[in-house]
Amino acid sequence: MTTESFAPGKIILTGEYAVVFGHPGIAVPASLGMRVTYEEDLARPDLTIRWKGIQGGEEWTQYLQGIVEECSEEPDQLFYGTLTVNNALPLGKGMGSSTSLVVATTKALLGEDCETKALAIENTVNPGHSGIDFRVIWNATPLYFKKASEPEAFLLPKDLLAGALLIDTGAPNETTPELVSWVEERKEQLAGPLETIGRCTEQLKAGEDLGAILWEHHRAQIALGVVPLNVQDLIEAIEDAGGSAKVIGAGGKTGGGGMVLAVHQDSESLRNAIPETFPVHML
Ligand code: MEV
Repeated sequence: MTTESFAPGKIILTGEYAVVFGHPGIAVPASLGMRVTYEEDLARPDLTIRWKGIQGGEEWTQYLQGIVEECSEEPDQLFYGTLTVNNALPLGKGMGSSTSLVVATTKALLGEDCETKALAIENTVNPGHSGIDFRVIWNATPLYFKKASEPEAFLLPKDLLAGALLIDTGAPNETTPELVSWVEERKEQLAGPLETIGRCTEQLKAGEDLGAILWEHHRAQIALGVVPLNVQDLIEAIEDAGGSAKVIGAGGKTGGGGMVLAVHQDSESLRNAIPETFPVHML
């Protein structure tokens, strides 16, 4: 028996960290994602794990093994054969790779009807999360998200992301749960920027200009301390050229800031503002 499942990554347009504290956020599924295939072979003594596409090394294999162990805690679930991850998502760079792997693996092993279990696994492997990544990746549709409320469909205006780019600034040195808990420790002093981020979501929902929203959102992320200096420089160069940009996802304190979403009326000016050292993806 062979089962296969795909889960997309995600792009948070507005709401990082603010969503953890009950403010709203808006996220869309990415076109890239993870495909996980389980080939059951009861004659095999164990489960062999294979990675294709973007590799994550030992750290990601262990993370995947943890998800498999959680799945095998369900009644009558033992897995023998081969589990293949075909990954097109940049890993640990704000595109929801860890949640995408939870969802695709749980669906491949336990079947499509496994939402409760997949969320329980997400709670274990990504402690402190708000639920926005899980919700947009599970639903695979643009969402207006608020913790503890039913998510609402977000009607993505047709040309909102036309010409937008994702810029790879490298993986941060900190994990998302570490960064979330660091922000949590300072939540009283960070109430202002967290509110600003929530307000950016309401502005986006109301159809206001995305460039202006990203400009303000980025400054609030800087105030949270999750935009490394080299990423601030990159975004300043984009703004000087007339565009706007922000980190998507948790960002970082040191190392890279993950992916940056950049928009501009003129795609050539945007390209010219980005130093060649940064890999760029079209949306
Ligand atoms: C991570 O993709 C988004 C954060 O807001 C954390 C979360 O909401 O779980 C930083």
